[in-house]
Amino acid sequence: MSGGVSVVILAAGQGTRMNSDRPKVLHELGAAPLLHHAMRSAAALGPERTVVVTGVGAREVEKAARAFDPDVQAVLQAEQQGTAHAVLQARDLLADQDGDVIVLYGDTPFVTPETLERMLEARASADIVVLGFETAHPEARYGRLVTEGARLDRIVEWKDADAATRAITLCNSGVVCAEGTFLFDLLREVGNDNASGEFYLTDIIGLARRRGMTATVVRCDESETLGINSRAELMAAEQAFQARARAEALDNGVSMQAPETVIFAYDTFVGRDTVIEPHVVFGPGVTVESGARIRAFSHLEGCHVSRGATVGPFARLRPGAELAEDVHVGNFVEIKASQIAEGAKINHLSYIGDAEVGERTNVGAGTITCNYDGVFKHRTVIGRDAFIGSDTMLVAPVTIGDGAMTATGSVITEDVAPGALAVARARQVIKTGFATKFFQKLRALKAAKSGA
Ligand code: UD1
Ligand code: CA
Repeated sequence: MSGGVSVVILAAGQGTRMNSDRPKVLHELGAAPLLHHAMRSAAALGPERTVVVTGVGAREVEKAARAFDPDVQAVLQAEQQGTAHAVLQARDLLADQDGDVIVLYGDTPFVTPETLERMLEARASADIVVLGFETAHPEARYGRLVTEGARLDRIVEWKDADAATRAITLCNSGVVCAEGTFLFDLLREVGNDNASGEFYLTDIIGLARRRGMTATVVRCDESETLGINSRAELMAAEQAFQARARAEALDNGVSMQAPETVIFAYDTFVGRDTVIEPHVVFGPGVTVESGARIRAFSHLEGCHVSRGATVGPFARLRPGAELAEDVHVGNFVEIKASQIAEGAKINHLSYIGDAEVGERTNVGAGTITCNYDGVFKHRTVIGRDAFIGSDTMLVAPVTIGDGAMTATGSVITEDVAPGALAVARARQVIKTGFATKFFQKLRALKAAKSGA
């Protein structure tokens, strides 16, 4: 037995209005599935157990849940008979827990850990805590919270509410917290005699009140409980997310000339005094240290950019690209799974993959690490203070020693010792007067043909 908090995340719903083959909770917000946002808020509580209730696309949803947290448990709700029925599916997995259970929705990404903490604190004064909000859209079909002073008396679903109840602006977010055994006890009593014929989680309030138990409401801003049901709502949520991420970056001392064109991911970290020029896109897993410059139209994911480095314009940093301090990566350069040491320069039109580039080394325009033989990937190692001539093809696996040089246009297939020059291209041949004679001959031929 354990007294810690557990979390149940409902993620079985079809999401019909998304008009998609993909389960709703796997649609992305800030470069992460909606489900991960709910899981991240839950994880901040350090829960004893986390259970995801799956249904539509169960295997994919379970896989995505495990990608976030390998210890998560998933349970299948084969038929979506309502939110109470959904939570009940988690009962066996939480049978040995006697702490509180928090119910979250996988399609509601913005609920903060602080709000969940406030709900746990409010449990000291009530048996059930419901997260509510004052709606600015009284026409929205949320469940209505019927209160008596500080107490919550019952929740009435919009479909089942009379005009007076629909006029209440205090609405149900769906997030609920109660002691586990008590919660599952109540859930078994929930019936489906209502306008939808579903088992409503919201019915537990009335049932608890009849047993002489108490319920209360913790309030949050409406924007925090925003649920995603359609592409339009997903887009609105993405814009809300981006607006927040941009404002946070500015607060953290990041400069942006056109923040509305910069796209952040849920975990983007940018240090102070870094400049982000217009139209930069951050995929997941990017950290940029202080005093760097990310120039216009660059795309970064899964990479690290150190202090003082410059990237772009039009650069692409892919997963595993690690740029040390003062590295310069210029236009039309792609870097993947490579460590670029301090002060190295890769300024124009290059592909660097599965490579190490040493300190202060200069990689000339058009250089390519030929890392893939069609089956395997191979590494390229370039030492420090090396000079890679423009248009060098480095056929991996290959090593270029410290201070070595490759001649422009070389195809390097063998290792180059430190301090050596490798020339691997055809030697130039000069044929004096050849071009003049050659063209005279061709022009004469053309004149003869058109005269014929
Ligand atoms: C629910 C609440 C309502 C609240 C609203 C907030 C109930 C009965 N109603 O209504 O008071 O204002 O959320 O958005 O709880 N789900 C399952 N299995 C099911 C049914 C639902 O996993 O059998 C999941 C859905 O995928 C979704 C969440 O639970 O993520 C909420 O279900 P939904 O049908 O959208 O509930 P609402 O009608 O919006
Ligand atoms: Ca909903």
